[in-house]
Parts: sequence; C-alpha cells; structure tokens
Amino acid sequence: MSNEPSTTPRRQSEIYFNGARGIRPRVPIDGTRLEDAARGVLSPLALSYIAGGAGSESTMRENREAFERWRIVPRVLRDVSRRDTTRTLFGRTWNTPFYLSPIGVLELMHPEADVAVARAAAERGVLMVFSNQASASMEACAAAMGDSPRWFQLYWSKDDELVDSFVSRAELCGCEAIVVTVDTTWLGWRTRDLELGSLPFLAGQGLAQYLNDPVFMRKVHDPLPGPAPAQARVTLGALRTAFSQAKAVPGSTLANLRSGTSLKAVRRFTATYARPSLTWSDLAYLRNRTKLKILLKGIQHPDDARRAVDAGVDGVIVSNHGGRQVDGAIGSLDALPAVLEAIGGAMPVLMDSGVRTGADVYKAIALGATAVGIGRPF
Ligand code: FNR
Repeated sequence: MSNEPSTTPRRQSEIYFNGARGIRPRVPIDGTRLEDAARGVLSPLALSYIAGGAGSESTMRENREAFERWRIVPRVLRDVSRRDTTRTLFGRTWNTPFYLSPIGVLELMHPEADVAVARAAAERGVLMVFSNQASASMEACAAAMGDSPRWFQLYWSKDDELVDSFVSRAELCGCEAIVVTVDTTWLGWRTRDLELGSLPFLAGQGLAQYLNDPVFMRKVHDPLPGPAPAQARVTLGALRTAFSQAKAVPGSTLANLRSGTSLKAVRRFTATYARPSLTWSDLAYLRNRTKLKILLKGIQHPDDARRAVDAGVDGVIVSNHGGRQVDGAIGSLDALPAVLEAIGGAMPVLMDSGVRTGADVYKAIALGATAVGIGRPF
C-alpha cells in the first residue's frame, strides 16, 4: 500500500474498477453517512458515547452548519496535474492536510482500538494524536508506528507527578508534541450518556494510559482525599462493572478483584482526572518541564489565542471538542478566522470539530488553518 501524498485519483479509480468487478466499498464514501452506518453496528452505550454532545447538542449542530455556510469559489485552468497534500509542521512532514484528533475509549468501537488506528495512521503517513483516555497505552501505539509522526494529548490531572510521568512517557514514545486539552477541566453535561447512566471510565474503559503508568499504579492503594464512598447495595450491574474494571487492570482478573486494585484504580482516576483550577499560569510548569512542542486544544476566542502566544506555547487548536463540552457555542469553523487574525502568523493554528468531508478540510485550510483534525469519522 502506498503512502505517497495525493492518492485521491488512484483511490477513485480503485473503487470504480472494483465496482466493475461487482465489489462495493464496505464503508460509506460520504463522510456524513458514517454515523448512520455506525448506528447499525455499535451498542447503544458506544453510540451514545461517540455521537453524543453536551446539553441540547446545539454546538454539535452549529459545527456542521458553519461548514455548510462557508462556500468554496472554484478557480480553473491552473495545471493541477501535480498536487501536494503534504503538511510540514515542527520540522516533520506528513502526507495529508488532516491528522487524527485524540479520541478516547476506542475499545467501544473496535477490539483493537488505538493500536489498529496507530497501524493505519503509520501505513498512510498520517499524524496521530494519542488520547489521554486511550484504550491502549501510548507505548503499544508507538510500537505499531515505526517512526511515523505522533503527538500526545494531555488532560492535566490534579496529580503533578502523574502529569510529569505522562510527559516523560510521551517523550520516550517519540511524540513530538504535547496537546493540552484546555476545554475539559470538567466533563461536559452529556445528555445521551446521562440518560443511559453511562460513563465508560467507571467500567475501567479508556484508562490504559493510567493503568500502565508506574506513578499511577504505585499510588493505587494510597488513601484518597475526602470521605470514603458509602457502601452501596450489590446489584447485577455493579458486579458487571466490577468485573469489567478488573479485566482492564493488567494482571489476573481474579487477583484484581480480590485485592480491590481495580476498584481503587477507578476511584483514583475519578478523584484526580482533571484539574478545574487550571489557569494560564500553570502552563509555565509544562513549558519548563519539556522540550516537546506544546499546543493548546480547545481555543475559540481571539483573546485566548493572544494569551496562548504570550504563554509561549507552540500552537493552538481551534476546537470545541466536537460540541461535547459547552452547549450553545459557536461553530468551530466560525471561530477560526478571528483566532487566525489574533495569532497573526506567530504560530500554527490547527482546527477540528465538524470535519466530515474533503471539502470541509479544504475550507479550513483555505481560511488559513495549518492542519485539520478528524474526530468522529475515523
Ligand atoms: C473526543 N475528543 C477528545 N478530545 C481530547 O482532547 N481527548 C480525548 O480523549 C477526546 N476523546 C473524545 C472521544 C470521543 C468519542 C469524541 C467524539 C471526541 C474530542 C476530539 O479530539 C475532537 O475535538 C472532536 O472529535 C471534534 O469533533 P468532531 O469533528 O468529531 O465532531
């Protein structure tokens, strides 16, 4: 399989020639139809987690409408026999104007989860951003990628030592940048998940970075701040959750259940996972801590973009987390021009949220984005 840039015409011919032999594509070609196709195969819990947004989901809708409003005015007769779709950023070149945004809990979608994505990204020469909430450790993904480009996305936890450990591991895994997600210092009010009472992390899903971390695991049996949780009645659901937690923690499932390690790991995660008190001044710690590039993900306002420049980071990602955090927000593409103007070329500006088609990628790049993140579609 080739990883040359601009393979679109070849891919198009391949599909038509296969069609002439009676073979149709297995996944929808129209990126906007992927969700319909997923509805037929995913469990209700998995579908809710991936497709859902915050509140009335109006931000999610607005992300798409912003892409619909911005239109392309085509130009002609400009010799397009050779095309270059590569992007160069921080001294690395990758094959596509898009990259893979960090997506947590990929085990809900496929048993091979992040490792399958890492393999595919490396095969095609696409930049992958490892999620802090991955289902496979960054080490397992890195091992599947050769020297293909990868970044690590960080949720800044309440435990500085854990932040430090995640950053060290990202450095060792060949990540070239840390993407600090700044729009999720609290989990959004995700209506679909709330209606199902479903948070995958409580079942031990999406915790691979933690469960494979020496600092996190060393502290698993340490007491947590605050009152001990009240004893709840044992239900079938509780047993199922306990079993799922125990399976997620490395080692024997039975031993994890007996020692209480898995329950304690999940409790430690929920107690420390995000830091609502995070402010601009905390960024200096990370800046001094690592030589890796630092990007802030979740910027929407031009004043925040200016502050990012002042904070000495290396790039921003205009994103509203696919509408999963704030309901009633502007479409991410609509936020892009003002952020670009505020940054004034001082550093790269990437964007995600609502990207479904090649035309969407084109629109964001034409407006001035350096690269565009694909989220739900992959
Ligand atoms: C996300 N996103 C996300 N972002 C992040 O920084 N860390 C994460 O672990 C996750 N996890 C995650 C899980 C799922 C199921 C979704 C849908 C999204 C946000 C993601 O990186 C990106 O910003 C959005 O997916 C962009 O919106 P669209 O284009 O997917 O709608």
